[in-house]
Amino acid sequence: MALDLCAIRRDLHQYPEVAHQEYRTAGVIEKTLQTLGLYPRRMAETGVVCDIPGRTSEPMLALRADIDALPIQEQSGVEFASRTPGVMHACGHDVHTTILLGVAEQLVQRQNELRRGVRLIFQPAEEGTTGAREMIAAGVLDNVASIVGLHNYPLLPVGKAAFRVGPLMAASSRFQITITGKGGHAASPHLSADPIVAGAAVVGGLQHLVSRVAHPLEPLVVTVGSFQAGSAFNIIPETAEMQGTVRCYSTELRRNVGQWMTETAGCIAAGYRCQAQVEYTEMMPPVRNDPELTQQARQAAVDVLGEKNVGEAEQVLAAEDFALYQQVVPGCFFWLGSGGPYHWHHPAFTVDEEVLPTGVKTLTAIALELVS
Ligand code: NI
Repeated sequence: MALDLCAIRRDLHQYPEVAHQEYRTAGVIEKTLQTLGLYPRRMAETGVVCDIPGRTSEPMLALRADIDALPIQEQSGVEFASRTPGVMHACGHDVHTTILLGVAEQLVQRQNELRRGVRLIFQPAEEGTTGAREMIAAGVLDNVASIVGLHNYPLLPVGKAAFRVGPLMAASSRFQITITGKGGHAASPHLSADPIVAGAAVVGGLQHLVSRVAHPLEPLVVTVGSFQAGSAFNIIPETAEMQGTVRCYSTELRRNVGQWMTETAGCIAAGYRCQAQVEYTEMMPPVRNDPELTQQARQAAVDVLGEKNVGEAEQVLAAEDFALYQQVVPGCFFWLGSGGPYHWHHPAFTVDEEVLPTGVKTLTAIALELVS
């Protein structure tokens, strides 16, 4: 009665659920684990946790999969496309979930090889960026010594994996800037203080934090993702509002950017007879891989996939709440090739389903290497 991984994945794909709504998904996970003779338990409402005991009570290895989907209308054209309008597994978390279920099956069959136990974490709300925090608060890392997770990587073909010691994904923060000027008639700029012109200058000025203020060898992204101002063609508005995000690997740089942003936006706005108010909120720490754990995991992947198929992981400046687990225990997060052509969060996102058996094989080997 082996699990049909492809069927499980396609079922999850057809019924995607966004962050905090993963009730059906959690049910599928629980039922599947129960058919393996395991005892899953709910955590943080829509999360599922399940222990596979080892021979000793030593602190366990945790394996984490995220389970949530995105508010995107699917345009992949696959026959098992989402049946929920406006919701799609466009980041492949259905694949992560299925792989971890497959690993559960393998580890149950080889349970006598486990010296330490393995805890399977099916985490909700990764895209909401609060799932890991809620699971940790609920005690998911109690008696856990280390954690491993993976993300499918469309830029790598199936059969390949990539690892990296140190920072892999970015620290993030978000900001909101309110420019306040003086409204008036569009034909009388001299009687007004135009927050749109000031705001446009601030958008440009913020890019100079990247090119002129930060160290040139430190990766840094400052993106203004939203700029809202004005209500009519012939009115100079009173205020302009922008929102955006900062990404980098260094938490020190991230803190500094908040300070620089306040100074820069304030000074630029003042030059246009406006004021800038900056709210800067630090969000996710960076995903930073533990050297020893990552070396061990990499070696296990090489044994399964072959040396030529295991490379150095490309860094990305997306954020991942796997980072929060790594604030508590050493962790390793790696890329598993899933074949493209579309990258994460694209409405036509697909994977080569060979990633399922490959992922199970690779993650099982890593788990056995770490707990045997
Ligand atoms: Ni993702």
